Amino acid sequence: MIDVSDAQQVLRDNDRDGHTVPTDGLYPFQWSWDSAITALGWLTFDEARAWEEAHTMFRGQWDNGMLPHILFHGDAESYFPGPDVWGSNTSIPSSAVSQPPVWATAVRYMYEHAQDRDLAEAALKKLLPQHLAYHDWWYRERDPADTGLVCSYHPWESGMDNSPAWDDALARVPEVDWDYQRRDLGHVDSDQRPHKPQYDRYLYLVDFYKKNGFDSELIYRECPYRVIDVGIVAILQRASKDLVELCKLAGEEGPIAGLEAEIARTQAAVDRLWSKEHRCYFNHDLVTGEHIEEITTATVLPLFGGLATQSKAAYMVDLIEEWLDATAFALSSTHPSSERFESQRYWRGPVWLHINWMIAEGLKDYGYEPLAERVKQATQKCVDESGFYEYFDALTGAGCGGGRFSWTAAVALYWLSD
Ligand code: DGY
Repeated sequence: MIDVSDAQQVLRDNDRDGHTVPTDGLYPFQWSWDSAITALGWLTFDEARAWEEAHTMFRGQWDNGMLPHILFHGDAESYFPGPDVWGSNTSIPSSAVSQPPVWATAVRYMYEHAQDRDLAEAALKKLLPQHLAYHDWWYRERDPADTGLVCSYHPWESGMDNSPAWDDALARVPEVDWDYQRRDLGHVDSDQRPHKPQYDRYLYLVDFYKKNGFDSELIYRECPYRVIDVGIVAILQRASKDLVELCKLAGEEGPIAGLEAEIARTQAAVDRLWSKEHRCYFNHDLVTGEHIEEITTATVLPLFGGLATQSKAAYMVDLIEEWLDATAFALSSTHPSSERFESQRYWRGPVWLHINWMIAEGLKDYGYEPLAERVKQATQKCVDESGFYEYFDALTGAGCGGGRFSWTAAVALYWLSD
């Protein structure tokens, strides 16, 4: 059973005057996809606060439509790298990459579930143009050659920072040549966080954007790290479909044809990523031109994006059925058959609740209700074992990363206790 009042208290405790921090200390600002998932939790007990979460986030949107992955709403000693390192000169200091674009999906959910219709109408009116600009940015800046598959420039943009899927692509990035002090290790056991060689390269990339004046054409041509992240592709696809629905709900027919053209382009391109042998869609390294053969939870997210045919979905269903049984706590973010699987290190094995929700939603859409229910029960088991942690050791269920974590509490509120 979910302790609903405690889950609500997690969000209240992490509320910082209009935005919710993912957790105190480790993540003291507003992160984009955390914020979207967290808004769904607020919606269950404070609709005005849920909409405010979205409005605060979109106040940090760049003029070119990009929604940064972090908005630095104030100073915080507890986090590195801060706005000075990113160097973006925006009214709300921010990072210079985005994050999986789940916002339109969240806003559609909020609009459809809200009781206060006047508030929902007003919020949609304000948010719709901002979302259209955001999606337009993805297609224009991240797929200028119209391949149908947007690209990503940083593991942090995937939200799955330390996934083994990024290891080889990141290893080719030079190391940063200045000293720095990490803050994350002051909050969380080092066994649960990325290693220094990865951080050296994360920071090189941050410097690279800054030194190149955030020039999107140059970065598209020359960034040493460019991947097609199938998680982003799938989440964007679902969000664009939701954005079409939001346009219809708002009576704004104009942008629909353009969005549908992008949706069709992605649908036509996605089979390039399919591996029948591995029963999933692989991430792809644009620098080497090769698939990244690592089975992670991102590689079945095309179910969430509605990108798979029914027969490809059936292959992924087989994979997920086996995967659920492969660890005591599931779904592990990296398949345990991988040599790089680590049950408690950030994105190399542990379980994340919001990803399980996405996979279960996809399974339901394809008619696999009982399997979706199994994913939900597996998710509940993590919370029963350890509470509202950031993520959960796939072998023991122990809570990892930050404690009293906003999106974990939010998923418990809007999904597990619905
Ligand atoms: C971090 O600092 O670990 C974040 O995930 C970056 O967004």
